[in-house]
Amino acid sequence: MPTMGALHQGHISLMDACKRENTVCVASIFINPAQFNNARDFQKYPVTIESDIDMLEAAGCDILFLPSTDEIYPPGINAINYNIGPLETMLEGKFRPGHFQGVARVVDKLLSIVLPDNLYLGQKDYQQCMVISKLMKDKNYIASIHICPIVRETDGLAMSSRNMRLNEMERKVAPAIYKILLNIKQNFKPGDLDAIKKEAATSLNQLGFKTDYVEIVNADTLSTLNEWDGKTKAVALVAAYINEIRLIDNLILK
Ligand code: PAJ
Repeated sequence: MPTMGALHQGHISLMDACKRENTVCVASIFINPAQFNNARDFQKYPVTIESDIDMLEAAGCDILFLPSTDEIYPPGINAINYNIGPLETMLEGKFRPGHFQGVARVVDKLLSIVLPDNLYLGQKDYQQCMVISKLMKDKNYIASIHICPIVRETDGLAMSSRNMRLNEMERKVAPAIYKILLNIKQNFKPGDLDAIKKEAATSLNQLGFKTDYVEIVNADTLSTLNEWDGKTKAVALVAAYINEIRLIDNLILK
């Protein structure tokens, strides 16, 4: 279970799944500088290592891998370029240039160090799951990927390490993202999808968010769906800022 720490119940749900299905469970905590396209986001990323260790112990984690930056990125070794394909520049990739190269680089290293049989990831980072799945096929990793459902707060806000940075006002409006996703699901029917997407983005912006995207895409390829044929598996994805905190969420529609 690779993580960047500041653990919450979303992470622990991955460890719970891992515990159910394996005899030895390994977690890693490494705030990967290579995947931050925004220096301030990296500097401000929450660090709660003592409570992370307590939570992992309580969840029955067997091994914590807590590498230093030099251990993962030995000085003088240059980054290689990963073939991520179209996933690299769409949605998260478009708004966070270089992000998925950094994710691929660190996950490749973590997988080659731990060599797990099973890898536990969260649906919260939908596109990341697809990037990692492609990486594993390209590099012939034999681990099976297990994608765990999104764990939410009682008001619907998807749990995220970045939620710790929300002030009281921001925390109050944050669950609107999930409400808008539910609304998209309710109105999702065959035909043109432009109006639903635009309405969702407008609602978010009216609530004070700065919306990077509201998209409805093919759940297998992430390509944009402009209209729905009533059959294609679809997922709605949102990325939006509340002041300087960027939140992402998604909901499978069909
Ligand atoms: P991080 O954001 O710490 O997330 C670690 C794992 O927990 C990811 O697979 C993520 O999808 C999952 N996760 C986060 N919030 C969740 C939630 N609310 N419910 C269920 N699962 C959730 O994702 C990363 O770290 C990094 O990019 C990483 C893969 C570790 C590479 O650096």
